[in-house]
Amino acid sequence: MPEGATLFERACRGVRGERTPVWIMRQAGRYLPEYRALREEVDFLTSTKTPEVAARITLQPMERYPLDAAILFADIMTPLEGMGVCVEFAPGPVIAEPVRSVAQARALRALDPHASVPFVLDALRMVRSELAPDRALIAFAGAPFTLFCYMVEGGGSKDFMEARSFLRAEPEAASDLLDLLGTSMAAYLVAQARAGADALMLFDSWVGLLGPDSYRRFALPVLQRTVSRVRAEVDRPIIYFANGGSTLLEAVAEVGADVIGIDWTLPLSSAVKRLGAQAVVQGNLDPAMLFAPRAELSIAIDAVLEEGAAAAAHVFNLGHGIHRTTDPDQIAFLVDRVRERSARLATDTGVPAGA
Ligand code: CP3
Repeated sequence: MPEGATLFERACRGVRGERTPVWIMRQAGRYLPEYRALREEVDFLTSTKTPEVAARITLQPMERYPLDAAILFADIMTPLEGMGVCVEFAPGPVIAEPVRSVAQARALRALDPHASVPFVLDALRMVRSELAPDRALIAFAGAPFTLFCYMVEGGGSKDFMEARSFLRAEPEAASDLLDLLGTSMAAYLVAQARAGADALMLFDSWVGLLGPDSYRRFALPVLQRTVSRVRAEVDRPIIYFANGGSTLLEAVAEVGADVIGIDWTLPLSSAVKRLGAQAVVQGNLDPAMLFAPRAELSIAIDAVLEEGAAAAAHVFNLGHGIHRTTDPDQIAFLVDRVRERSARLATDTGVPAGA
């Protein structure tokens, strides 16, 4: 454990503290009026590419709420341009020339983070220097399969059928592309750690489209290699979020991440049973619960905390990103409730929160 590790970093490494740390997926974004105001002057792409603006947006939720971690304002698609793929946002990602042939896949190049995304590294340095020492800074990357989905499909989709059929029609080219994404994202995460990130997260937003056998064949090996490459270079907790991955958990446990993000469809105690009692979990309040009356919201928050007690340690979060129509006051309420309630649970049981 590095000296001066925050409550959040300690939890990521399986050490419970005086309460359960909390942050919110997509905490820097459109539900915040200050984000919408800033975005009236600067478009999304420009805001991700301008370190001062990205740093400002990253810190917006940190100024409003006593969150335990900041997550850099960027997108999982941000580094793809450096691999030779042009990405626009409308507001979801759009790739005008998706990768649909072996020749196109072979023409892509490995990411050089210092050459292609210096603005991300500068933004991390800025945020780390402004953030209080007891709050952690999370940097992230898209997981190889999820990036593959967008690259081949060309944008969002319900079933990513183009991507999934490419996997079957051209398994060798697909595996090469997944590998290139893996080495590129490993380099990206290492560069982000060296620029000041305290923890590293891999978002596998679409991996729930794979069954366990396909996950083991196409997603798991490249994830394992990505995680080992990062570990060989930097010592930072790694969080892996397999959205929709409730059928994949036994395989997810083999990724080698320190923390497993769980979506809201599975109680945390069931997830822990399948991951093993040594698991550290992150999650998993249903983002829709933030639209419930406070009495019900409170019960749901308490239930997530009690479920999280089954794990070696727990990081409180939603089960997926916050919806843009959420009332920001609900987050103030949630963060206070998690802080108070988990501190009380820790004192009552005589062991640190969630142990
Ligand atoms: O606060 C944070 O979490 C940090 C910022 C962040 C963004 N995107 C900013 C963003 C993070 C971590 C992401 C990750 C991301 N981006 C994922 C993985 C997480 C997940 O949700 O599963 C994915 C799949 C994407 C791709 C993406 N980017 C989509 C689908 C969209 C459209 C979202 C929507 O709700 O319409 C984006 C655009 C995007 N990324 C926005 C933000 C704040 C909205 C852009 C705007 O301001 O108009």
